[in-house]
Amino acid sequence: MSAKIIDGKQVAVDIRAELKSEVAKLAEKGIVPGLGVILVGEDPASKSYVSAKERACGEIGIFSDDHRLPVETKQEELLALVERMNKDPKINGILVQLPLPKHIDESAVLLAIDPDKDVDGFHPMNVGKMVVGEKAFLPCTPHGVIQLLKRSGVNTCGKHVVVVGRSNIVGKPVANMLIQKQEGGNATVTLCHTRTKDLGYHTRQADIIIAASGCPNTVTADMVKEGAVVIDVGVNRVEDATRERGYRLVGDVDFEAVKEKASLITPVPGGVGPMTITMLLYNTVESAKRANGID
Ligand code: GUN
Repeated sequence: MSAKIIDGKQVAVDIRAELKSEVAKLAEKGIVPGLGVILVGEDPASKSYVSAKERACGEIGIFSDDHRLPVETKQEELLALVERMNKDPKINGILVQLPLPKHIDESAVLLAIDPDKDVDGFHPMNVGKMVVGEKAFLPCTPHGVIQLLKRSGVNTCGKHVVVVGRSNIVGKPVANMLIQKQEGGNATVTLCHTRTKDLGYHTRQADIIIAASGCPNTVTADMVKEGAVVIDVGVNRVEDATRERGYRLVGDVDFEAVKEKASLITPVPGGVGPMTITMLLYNTVESAKRANGID
């Protein structure tokens, strides 16, 4: 079997079109959703993510308030900027790009963001609400994975999903969303990580594999059941002298071999990646609606 490729770019285009028309309706009421974006330092991957986020905001009519701060920025300065954005009624969402430089306490910064403006869904208040199944801002990459499955016609109810990776940004939240007693959930979830013994034993039993290890070739063809759905969250830069920029992007899955066994698979790039930014836009529009009593 050769897998059908899930076109994350197209799903993202569809959702962004829906959001653009919502933003236009809000504009008629004089409401412009605003996103505060903070990048500290010069990490090349973070710079390109942040630029893509700002561009995407502009394309659908979200106002973005961009702050690029030098790597030596003090934690107090960053906290003061977050506090200003917390109080600014024009800002509905605040995004502090991670990772932060080592001298800044990441959890102190995330905790300082008003949970009602936490469009990344990283504040412990939103994490807790998500775990107990209350309405919350859902973190963008895992929410994007759930939307990709849903819009590709994959029903997770009763399925065995194996998540590979236990990060706070992807593995833990996606596992949690999948066990919720609601549409897009109701799955049986196994969460594997670096201390899992015999990863392949688990992944071979999966109806759906979500690879979020952050390491190329974590999931190879021998680890995949015939007909499984494979979602690759990884974005890894590997050296490639044939490319002008000197590298290419690969996921966590051995795509070429695994696509011969899977029924559905996401590519890298063009799979989960475009969904992350899309769900950030979604959360920002939701936040603007909530701030104006529209639901
Ligand atoms: N770094 C990697 N992924 C993310 C994300 O989704 N949000 C933020 N703020 N930083 C990140």
